Amino acid sequence: MGNIIISASILSADLCCLGKDIARAENAGCQYIHFDVMDGMFVPNISYGIPVLDSVSKTAEGVLDVHLMITDPIRYIEAFAASGADIITFHLEACSDAKAVIDKIHSCGKKAGVAIKPATPASDLIPYLGISDMLLVMTVEPGFGGQGFNYDMLPKISRLREMLDEKGIGIPIQVDGGINESTAKLVKDAGAEILVAGSYLFKAEDMDAAVKKLIS
Ligand code: DX5
Ligand code: ZN
Repeated sequence: MGNIIISASILSADLCCLGKDIARAENAGCQYIHFDVMDGMFVPNISYGIPVLDSVSKTAEGVLDVHLMITDPIRYIEAFAASGADIITFHLEACSDAKAVIDKIHSCGKKAGVAIKPATPASDLIPYLGISDMLLVMTVEPGFGGQGFNYDMLPKISRLREMLDEKGIGIPIQVDGGINESTAKLVKDAGAEILVAGSYLFKAEDMDAAVKKLIS
């Protein structure tokens, strides 16, 4: 297993004190800041978007990991790239031509992640394994923080890890939803390397200790 990266989902941060919470997460050892964009169409919730990312990118020191839960994401790739995203992840279910979205992200000089919802099989990602920079396996239904981990996703993570290893493709698998100290162990054993964590981190009394528990 390589190095585990923790991506702090600021959906669970105190949004009135976002800069302070980003610094807290980074000081606790989170290398990525996970920025969830929801449009009220692809998912039944609305979060925040480009103007907030403009501000976040001025204060965050680590990697800005943008998770687009929006319909027809190709419309907004340039805008999120210009706002400071380092990785732009979109949902396979939200677009008709995923390769075009990946190409667009790359043309903006950014890394492209491809996400799948719990009901989408691992095999749907096969055409994109060699052309994307990260795979995101949702371990909850996208839309809300604080949900329970879906254990049925563990074989999907293992299957993807096997497919990547068989093909010699060295891209990481990210997991998002319901990550805590016990589910972190399971997803790492299954082959995930980038763990998104929201409520577990921001509700922790001691965030440093919480990050250490996810990594160890
Ligand atoms: C859910 C979001 C997640 C969410 C995770 O749609 O993509 O990033 O913030 O929150 P927790 O870690 O609380 O499940
Ligand atoms: Zn997310």
